[in-house]
Amino acid sequence: MNLQNKTAFITGSTRGIGQQIAIGLAEKGCNIIVHGRTKANCQTTLALLEKYKVKTHSVYGDLAHPEEVEKVIQQVEKLNIDVEILYNNAAIMRPYRHDYWSHTQEDWSWSMQVNVFAPYAFCKAFIPKMMTNGFGRVINLVSGIQDQPELSPYSTSKAALAKLTKDLSVKLDETAVRINSLDPGWLQTDLGGEYADHPVEAVMPGALQPALIENDGPNGTTFFALNA
Ligand SMILES: NC(=O)c1ccc[n+]([C@@H]2O[C@H](COP(=O)([O-])OP(=O)(O)OC[C@H]3O[C@@H](n4cnc5c(N)ncnc54)[C@H](OP(=O)(O)O)[C@@H]3O)[C@@H](O)[C@H]2O)c1
Repeated sequence: MNLQNKTAFITGSTRGIGQQIAIGLAEKGCNIIVHGRTKANCQTTLALLEKYKVKTHSVYGDLAHPEEVEKVIQQVEKLNIDVEILYNNAAIMRPYRHDYWSHTQEDWSWSMQVNVFAPYAFCKAFIPKMMTNGFGRVINLVSGIQDQPELSPYSTSKAALAKLTKDLSVKLDETAVRINSLDPGWLQTDLGGEYADHPVEAVMPGALQPALIENDGPNGTTFFALNA
């Protein structure tokens, strides 16, 4: 799949895995829409992308607030560019609760809003146009995290996103839009922590695989970045 001149919107691409994906796609000639909570946060990635001959843009907004999610969508729409590749990458992980009964309502609401409701809003905003245009790749970042009630709001939200991915894929089967999950592996990022198994760079090139599949490629499946 040639990604030259296609446009990718990567949520949470100011640092960590999202930044790696932005660089990897730019290396393939893909135009990039960077996203973070603030305009200032997007600057580092925009600077890193300067050396590639691609168009870059940035949009910003805190996905913890539905009205800011809508503002992010409006900013993308104002660019007058069709999003052809969507990476729902931004996510939060609420603090580890040693007492796993002590997750608060806020832990749950915040995790579901950023990690599930916002990705759904972006799917809803951009997939119909992808279907009309006859091309689209949607990649939802999930997690292999298992059996850790201490992190339940995070792990449950990721399971929900994986289920949403599967459910939406059914409606896209007969189209040229592919939606898949991507499990990046345990990586040293702000979210993954310093003791993770791999440096963040290890996510490449595997993280690009679901963007590089053909129009009749896998749909509703999970890719594992470290297996590539
Ligand atoms: N790292 C791992 O080991 C690991 C393992 C499995 C799955 N994952 C998944 O991989 C994805 C990326 O994780 P990461 O480790 O790269 O995380 P990270 O280093 O913490 O980066 C998070 C990114 O998301 C943005 N973000 C965070 N909260 C946001 C909010 N409320 N609204 C808007 N943007 C927000 C951040 O933007 P700002 O800079 O503006 O805050 C940043 O660009 C996540 O979906 C995560 O669940 C990671």
